[in-house]
Amino acid sequence: MILSIESSCDDSSIAVTETVTRRVVFHKKISQEQEHSHYGGVVPELASRLHAVALPAILEETSQYFPSLKAIAVTNQPGLGVTLMEGIAMAKTLSLLLDIPLIAVHHLKAHIYSLFIEKDEIMPLLVLLISGGHTQIIRVENFENMEILATSIDDSVGESFDKCSKMMDLGYPGGPIIEKLALGGDENRFDFPVPLRNSSQIAFSLSGLKNAVRLQIEKIGVLSPQDQCDIAASFQKTVKLHLLQKSKKIFSQEKIKDFAIVGGASANLYLRNGYESLCKEFGKSLHTAPLHYCSDNAAMIGRYALEAYQRGQFVSPEEIELGSTKRLRNETFL
Ligand code: KG4
Ligand code: ZN
Repeated sequence: MILSIESSCDDSSIAVTETVTRRVVFHKKISQEQEHSHYGGVVPELASRLHAVALPAILEETSQYFPSLKAIAVTNQPGLGVTLMEGIAMAKTLSLLLDIPLIAVHHLKAHIYSLFIEKDEIMPLLVLLISGGHTQIIRVENFENMEILATSIDDSVGESFDKCSKMMDLGYPGGPIIEKLALGGDENRFDFPVPLRNSSQIAFSLSGLKNAVRLQIEKIGVLSPQDQCDIAASFQKTVKLHLLQKSKKIFSQEKIKDFAIVGGASANLYLRNGYESLCKEFGKSLHTAPLHYCSDNAAMIGRYALEAYQRGQFVSPEEIELGSTKRLRNETFL
């Protein structure tokens, strides 16, 4: 079995996965959403302190598996430096104490592997990754070869939902809040500009839309509940149109038949519906992870680690490093 640890942002999570059957025999996650909610976003130092309490509490529940463990896996990049360090410190200690190898896991690649938890891989695959930190389309040839085809030049999709919610004082994380409000709203009431609509650039941009929402909120002044629903719906519709417009360009260039959406914002059913139609139009099959594995979790870290384990891709506890703590938006290879 492999024990995997995730602490790249505001979720403390540990999973135990069987190496042969790929079964997830233990998975627990403690989210810090409530604690960060009054701030409208994640406060890194607070997140780090909460991980320091939550991770050991979850780990205690896994002690029965210790004799069966073959490796420890941990997210080492990208993410918040102070929170990644909590998971890495725990992973190093366990690796040394149990004398088993350590696997460093790239968080974004693990999001891709959230599709394959307890399942076989589907490759090659085109992937839209929409999380709190990233918005990218990635061509996944196989475990070793992943190439970013498009990326956001500013905010990510998840972040834009969070900011839209924050601007209306609705709390964090904004994604589920905005999606729910939008159900009661008129998506055609506000005509927000679709980002990069007239540009041939295959990239994403969400900061202009955020500004358009801010200006509309200021123009209305005191928002009624219906105003909030209409803003949420019009904002969400614009995000969908933007994602679909740019994805369409990639779909017409890429022959790969399988397409997937991963990351926290892939839990959004309205966005999923939009992609279902687009995939139908282009004869592609749409793949998504179960809703509970869309946002950060250690089961996806474990699933990626199974592949690394088979290939003997280990790092020594002395060597494991905190990887990139920045966004990867300017990188072309994962
Ligand atoms: O993948 P994730 O858990 O963390 C990162 O790796 O960043 O993604 C978290 C993000 C947050 O910004 C959250 O608002 C967004 O995913 N999110 C959603 C939905 N559920 C979560 N965005 C849109 N619609 C949702 N239903
Ligand atoms: Zn994530």
